[in-house]
Amino acid sequence: MTPERMTPGRVCLVTGAGSGIGAAVAGRLAARGHRVATAARSRDALDAVAASIRATTPQAEVLPVTADVTDDGDVEAMYRAVEDRWGPVEVLVAAAGTGFGKALVDTTDEEWRGALELNLTAPFRCLRRALPAMLERRWGRVVVIASVVAKRGEAQVAAYTASKHGVLGLVRSAAAELAATGVTVNAICPGYVDTPMTDHTVRAISARSGRTLAEARDTLARRQPIGRLITTDEVADAVGFCVENGAVTGQGINVDGGAVQS
Ligand SMILES: NC(=O)c1ccc[n+]([C@@H]2O[C@H](COP(=O)([O-])OP(=O)(O)OC[C@H]3O[C@@H](n4cnc5c(N)ncnc54)[C@H](OP(=O)(O)O)[C@@H]3O)[C@@H](O)[C@H]2O)c1
Repeated sequence: MTPERMTPGRVCLVTGAGSGIGAAVAGRLAARGHRVATAARSRDALDAVAASIRATTPQAEVLPVTADVTDDGDVEAMYRAVEDRWGPVEVLVAAAGTGFGKALVDTTDEEWRGALELNLTAPFRCLRRALPAMLERRWGRVVVIASVVAKRGEAQVAAYTASKHGVLGLVRSAAAELAATGVTVNAICPGYVDTPMTDHTVRAISARSGRTLAEARDTLARRQPIGRLITTDEVADAVGFCVENGAVTGQGINVDGGAVQS
């Protein structure tokens, strides 16, 4: 018997749940019988995700919350909305994020700050806000969607890479600090995943290089040694593992088709 094992009905908050990885994670947690608050800026996207979750899991409890996670006031209001409905957040999945490709020499201060705000500072603020209640209950799960570029450098993505290295540092430090408290903190480090964010990258590569969209997508698929894009379900599987397992903490779990061996 593992006392810290996950029981159904946990209160989960998934940021970036309006599409891609966050939407898949929200669906997975709802299917496992958890209450899932979904956050993003677009209400329409959140409503569409909630409808699709309810279509496959009719008993699902889903709470869409419109929030910009780079805005302090929105983060506070997002937590209040969840607490008012279900009580404190027990599982936080920070998936909101974005990336752009640009040579270092052309990257503006604003783009640099934007990447760090969304990919690094927002997860910090969300984690800090969730912690007091998790510590009081001596149980909590935090999973940040980082990236394979949290582990290695890549050309043309300096701001994104720096933000993802930073957030893995946050995860590792938080896990060390919280190890004895019942709160685990982990990161998932995916390679290229088949999501709208990757569609955007495909369009950018095609525009820059003159390659067709199919050729650009194939270039990204071949970045994974398995020769294809990662699926959102494969990332959701890894998140589920971190949420279920009380002994795994401080890890950056690669879901990258073998790109980084660590
Ligand atoms: N796709 C990949 O290949 C890949 C690989 C490695 C890591 N990742 C990471 O995985 C995470 C999810 O990526 P994805 O591919 O699923 O991207 P996606 O399909 O573009 O989804 C991103 C989600 O984040 C939300 N979001 C963006 N800015 C936000 C903000 N300021 N406040 C609140 N929500 C915000 C978006 O909704 P709104 O625009 O409506 O706010 C959307 O729901 C990101 O952290 C990304 O860096 C992705």
